Amino acid sequence: MDKPPERYDAHLTDFKGIAYIEGIDRYQDLYTRSIEDVEGFWAEQAREYLSWEKEWDSVLHYDFEAGNVEWFRGAVLNASFNCLDRHLGKGDNRVAYYWEGDDPAESRQVTFRELYRQVNRFAGVLKSRGVRKGDRVVIYLPMIVELPVAMLACARIGAVHCVVFSGFGSEYLTDRIRDSRARTVVTADGSSRGGSIIRLKENVDHAVQRCPDVDTVIVFDRCGLKPALDGRREIWWHEAVAQPSIPDHVAPEPMEAEDPLFLLYTSSSTGRPLGLVHTHGGYLLYAAMTTHLSFDLKPHETFWSTPDVGWITGHTYGVYGPLLNGLTSVLFEGVPRYPDFDRYWSIVAKYRVNKFYTAPTVIRLLAQHGTENVTKHDTSSLKLLGSVGQPIDPEAWMWYHQYPGRGVCPIIDTWWQTESGGHMITPLPGVAAIKPGSCSFPFMGVDPVLIDPDTGDEVRFPNQEGALFIRKPWPGMARTAFEDHERFRETYFARFPGLFFTGDAAKRDEDGYYWITGRIDEVINVSGYRMGPAEVEAALVLHPQVTESAVVGFPHRLKGQGIYAFVTLAAGSSKSDKIRKELIDLVRTKIGPIATPEAIQWADGLPKTRSGKVLRQLLQKIAAGNFDNLGDTSIISEPAIIENLIRERMGIDAS
Ligand code: WT7
Repeated sequence: MDKPPERYDAHLTDFKGIAYIEGIDRYQDLYTRSIEDVEGFWAEQAREYLSWEKEWDSVLHYDFEAGNVEWFRGAVLNASFNCLDRHLGKGDNRVAYYWEGDDPAESRQVTFRELYRQVNRFAGVLKSRGVRKGDRVVIYLPMIVELPVAMLACARIGAVHCVVFSGFGSEYLTDRIRDSRARTVVTADGSSRGGSIIRLKENVDHAVQRCPDVDTVIVFDRCGLKPALDGRREIWWHEAVAQPSIPDHVAPEPMEAEDPLFLLYTSSSTGRPLGLVHTHGGYLLYAAMTTHLSFDLKPHETFWSTPDVGWITGHTYGVYGPLLNGLTSVLFEGVPRYPDFDRYWSIVAKYRVNKFYTAPTVIRLLAQHGTENVTKHDTSSLKLLGSVGQPIDPEAWMWYHQYPGRGVCPIIDTWWQTESGGHMITPLPGVAAIKPGSCSFPFMGVDPVLIDPDTGDEVRFPNQEGALFIRKPWPGMARTAFEDHERFRETYFARFPGLFFTGDAAKRDEDGYYWITGRIDEVINVSGYRMGPAEVEAALVLHPQVTESAVVGFPHRLKGQGIYAFVTLAAGSSKSDKIRKELIDLVRTKIGPIATPEAIQWADGLPKTRSGKVLRQLLQKIAAGNFDNLGDTSIISEPAIIENLIRERMGIDAS
């Protein structure tokens, strides 16, 4: 395969006269204004992108040292109104979702009008079950239309949705129901992925047994599994929405701009998952604007963001961003390999998708299965390809550009995070040459700073790596961790007073392009999914023969990073493949398949400081097979442990 060009600039001509933001000068004008006149700029955008029931008294208040941020104080709006009601009337026959089932024989179209109808009825059901403004509702559904319906119904009545990825197991679900103190769970009997059925309701049963406060479980009949419902707490979706007492219209609840819209749990480097809180005002504005500009989406175009709605990408670019802009998008229940590795491209051809957004790990997987899978389909509708979740390597860039992109689609490499709500650093089509592997320039309002970890000063030279911080608030940022503001402040604002810590490192080259070099905390990025070591460790030690474990990320060809577990067994246990398999099964059922360790290494002991802290950086190097430069090992309480670990590591095949 050819190497990618150092600079790709054909899109400057291809998007000429088309792009919303044309040319570097226009971008620079807008960007400068967004930084110098923060309030004026965002007030203008807020009027442009959203309908407000009442405008704000002031645009921005913040105190980064305390981790406090408030946008559009005094303003009132509703997310569901902005996604649906305001598109009614002319043009509401437009398709909101082309839904494509796991089984290619199943598909369905839902117009804006139909979505509006379903959201209203489901909002009525939630109300009839006593769900009120501010209550949390856990949504544990596969990629079916009912997932956005449930989210928007919550938003309509001011309830706070908390979507849990349907690929997560019962333990994860339990933790999230507990932490969010949700009393309502919306789920399905099962989900169909890659031809097999996952029994979601069984996971909910396990979870609800341990969450006595849950008083309502609404079950959508997706797979015809017909689980017995208890009838008091558990109700069928289809029966509930058909009740004559359920109204066709539920008035959208007036929400303050800073009222929470949703909670989304994400992994941090230590401890339990963090329930990040996103708001009605700022988040929606940022979702609408980044969707519109980063993908340069036009009203007649069809968009497809492949990541599951259970992740932030699905929230922002699968639900809120497209709907706020009144756009048509694809919602796909299945996986890229089923029935065959051409599935994505057959869907692109079927719906004439114009802009497509996925993760590099998917591209690497598909590239392994030949070009035929792409070329046998007509992908000529594609004009732009987005990338998210991980750095995109040159081979993946080139394959993506040449095959699905037919050598004419620019690749928009968007860097952002669950915390940021939307794109932070990204190329914009038609603005400037793209450098493959770089996420280019900051989005409007984003003021990145690189800090030298040794000196604590701002990085001075081009191409010098630094920890990536953000200097100013942007509307899409998370406001707090659910009922734990102190943890939020400490995680993001305590490293460097006055700056927001992203957890990533980056370089800025001589032309001002940013290059993300990876996490500098202990968060592991598996196939663009974020995992915290502590969560996997907690699952491993549930095994009766495990006394201790330490989990780190290591370089993995397809996934970016894989999970590598060091496990100490109780004295007398045999280090057998049987236990290894039990451990893998344990992680898969407790957390979910994405947390499956790629390698498990038996460790007679873990390297710790005298005060008992596990030296993870050292373990990361051992897991990577990188034994030179292990750093200062004199601080370890039992140095012989390292030799043992290295010896064991050499016998393991991990790549
Ligand atoms: C972490 C955030 C952004 C939504 C999906 C993941 C890594 C994300 C890129 C990119 C290099 C990237 C970072 C970031 N990341 N996008 N384009 N290039 N790295 O959201 O689960 O919150 O993970 O993903 O390390 O901090 P998330």
